[in-house]
Amino acid sequence: MKIAIASDHAAVDMKAALANWLRESGHEVTDLGADSKDSVDYPDYGYALAEHVAAGKAERGVALCGTGIGISIAANRHSAIRCAVVTEPFSAQLARDHNDANILALGERILGLEMAKACLKAFIETESGSGERHARRIGKLTHPPVEA
Ligand code: RB5
Repeated sequence: MKIAIASDHAAVDMKAALANWLRESGHEVTDLGADSKDSVDYPDYGYALAEHVAAGKAERGVALCGTGIGISIAANRHSAIRCAVVTEPFSAQLARDHNDANILALGERILGLEMAKACLKAFIETESGSGERHARRIGKLTHPPVEA
């Protein structure tokens, strides 16, 4: 699978570890930065990842920051993105099954590497659920009845 990954400075170690692990597992990984622990702004990386996934350059994205929260908010500002921040694998599984999430967000200051891998494994291995109710709800996420 083509997977893009991005983080701010707070999660470069987890990004490197997860990118290596994904490549070792046979995935094609595009690393969109950040490249060092010098302070950067997580929205810049969330927006870049959202654009990349929305453009079809990757099938799924992985967004990382200290908590996973800030970069998930940024990614979710793109109408084609459904980014789920999770702390355990069951939520990652349901984010795919019920929400067709296309980006998974994780926090390096929240999760150990093994739990992050378990979440990511569930996210990659779970297909989005079939069924009219899921499609209807996901359609409402893409076209929200609120002012942009
Ligand atoms: C950076 O210090 C930190 O605020 C950021 O990584 C993230 O946790 C924000 O949501």
